Amino acid sequence: MKINFIGHACFLIEDSGYSLLIDPFIKGNPTASVKPEDLKPTHILVSHAHGDHLGDAVEIAKNTKAKIYTTNELGGQLSEEGVETVAGHIGGKAKTEFGSIKYFQAFHGSGVAGGFACGFIIDIGGKKIYHAGDTGLTKDMELLKREDIYLAMLPIGDFYTMGPEDALEAVKMIKPKHVIPMHYNTFPPIKQAPEAFAKSVMGDTPAKAIVLKPGESIEL
Ligand code: NI
Ligand code: MN
Repeated sequence: MKINFIGHACFLIEDSGYSLLIDPFIKGNPTASVKPEDLKPTHILVSHAHGDHLGDAVEIAKNTKAKIYTTNELGGQLSEEGVETVAGHIGGKAKTEFGSIKYFQAFHGSGVAGGFACGFIIDIGGKKIYHAGDTGLTKDMELLKREDIYLAMLPIGDFYTMGPEDALEAVKMIKPKHVIPMHYNTFPPIKQAPEAFAKSVMGDTPAKAIVLKPGESIEL
């Protein structure tokens, strides 16, 4: 699979002929490496409605006819804007053409009244990817150990989400094979040193940490 880091919490995952775009915050993102019209995803995933995650999802969904996978309350709101949604909820799994997308709890506001923020466990090409969305550290992350996560994308920015120390604890609970940090250095309050985080992960856990700059990608 090819993992493209667009910037902030936005990734494009390409595998098995599909391309999954997660949290497409592009136009307002000073670090974004592409334009919304450059992206032709087959699926879009939105963890919650804060602007740095919902971003340009509606515009891209309208351009491409890709469905937006998100939780129920935000899904209802987006449907009214004329895009197709797959609005599941925490703990549930949506079957997809490539495998499945499971909605996992995130401890964070949703940006929609009555809504829930989420993370995603994406089952694609026989491997599982966990994108945490925005979240603080929770003991629930221990549950992810049994999912056999191949790649975990974790926020390290602090202030709005986990910082590097808590993200390291998350890695110890999740036990993924690979870790990519996200949600840092986009704005002054979330300034971090991702290389130092990567070093701590590889010093304290068996996981391999990979730091991608916006616009970079890796084959995993
Ligand atoms: Ni948020
Ligand atoms: Mn955020």
